[in-house]
Amino acid sequence: MDGRRFAVTPGALKACGGATHKKGTPTICEYHEPNVSAEAFLAGLARVIRANQTDDGPCVGCRYLQAPTKTPKHPFTGSFFAGISLHDFCGCNSRCVYCAGSEYFLPAKYVASQDHEILFRNLFDSGLIEPKRTAVSWGGGEPTLVKTFDRTVQFLSSNHIREVINTSGIRFSPAIWRALEEGTATVRISVDSGTNGTYSRVKRNRHCDDVWESIRRYAATGGDMIVKYIIFSMNSEIAEVEAFIDRCAAAGVRRICISVDVRSVWDIDPGADRLTERELKAAAEMYNLARSRGMSPYFEGVWSAEHLQRIGELGGFNAEVVQRTNLVHRAVRKARRLMFDRGELPH
Ligand SMILES: C[S@@+](CC[C@H](N)C(=O)[O-])C[C@H]1O[C@@H](n2cnc3c(N)ncnc32)[C@H](O)[C@@H]1O
Ligand code: SF4
Repeated sequence: MDGRRFAVTPGALKACGGATHKKGTPTICEYHEPNVSAEAFLAGLARVIRANQTDDGPCVGCRYLQAPTKTPKHPFTGSFFAGISLHDFCGCNSRCVYCAGSEYFLPAKYVASQDHEILFRNLFDSGLIEPKRTAVSWGGGEPTLVKTFDRTVQFLSSNHIREVINTSGIRFSPAIWRALEEGTATVRISVDSGTNGTYSRVKRNRHCDDVWESIRRYAATGGDMIVKYIIFSMNSEIAEVEAFIDRCAAAGVRRICISVDVRSVWDIDPGADRLTERELKAAAEMYNLARSRGMSPYFEGVWSAEHLQRIGELGGFNAEVVQRTNLVHRAVRKARRLMFDRGELPH
């Protein structure tokens, strides 16, 4: 942790959202109502930071942990949070086979969470989040089912706080549409299939056509809309990949995130099928097909270096450079946004 990010989880604000954290993510403070006091929050965060100045702190082993300093600075005087991720709701309108949550996520009608608009108003009024400098990332369950979702997105957009919204795409959200149009959000929908049949088997719902209609409407805004494909044994036929690229082209999609089932790559689920050459070929084919249709594909950070190398060999390109270039482009986009917000760039 770097003290500038935290995760909102059921009942607790955590120092990060790290699902792979071996010791469990450290708690900053309890969270049973949206009116978290800034004092309790800052005291909790200072406690976690102090604990991490020792050799057996709660975040030892995490690659994001910053080295202890002899004179730890309190990071919050007149400062801001760079990143907040939301994971305190657990209802979903999908049951994706690869999702660890899908077995315990409640049906859509039982989604419960705090009022995020109140949480963000508090943080905003206390000066802990700042326009143009804080980014909020929606995880899950499914955010569009949260009762206060649309007005929270509107509140954040109108205060120039950027959002990354991961959504199933089943429910079309007018607030997402507006945020895309205003350029305040990145939206990512994981479709993981090219045909309706594979969609129903992987996502275990019947809303394939509704999702593509949401994608089409979001993409038509010209905003930062990404369609994602988690490659694994159930969707790695080349014909499936071709159908997916055709459907992206028809919906006006410009960016494609080529991802992989993390259970197959990381040691998370011994029951998950391991990756084979077929999945790597599918990734290479997806990249080349997307490029040939004028789209911008990129590889998500979850691929291992060995997999990227083999994908590159199979596809005739350097996949590691593709992944790095995407990170550079992201930094450039961020810098351009900041300059635009400061009036240093024309529209
Ligand atoms: C847990 S979902 C919650 C948000 C929303 N319901 C959605 O599906 O986008 C957040 C992200 O985690 C990704 N995800 C879940 N399980 C995964 C897995 N086994 N491998 C790779 N990505 C996964 C989803 O594709 C999605 O982009
Ligand atoms: S839509 Fe998102 S939260 Fe719901 S089951 Fe799929 S990945 Fe999990």
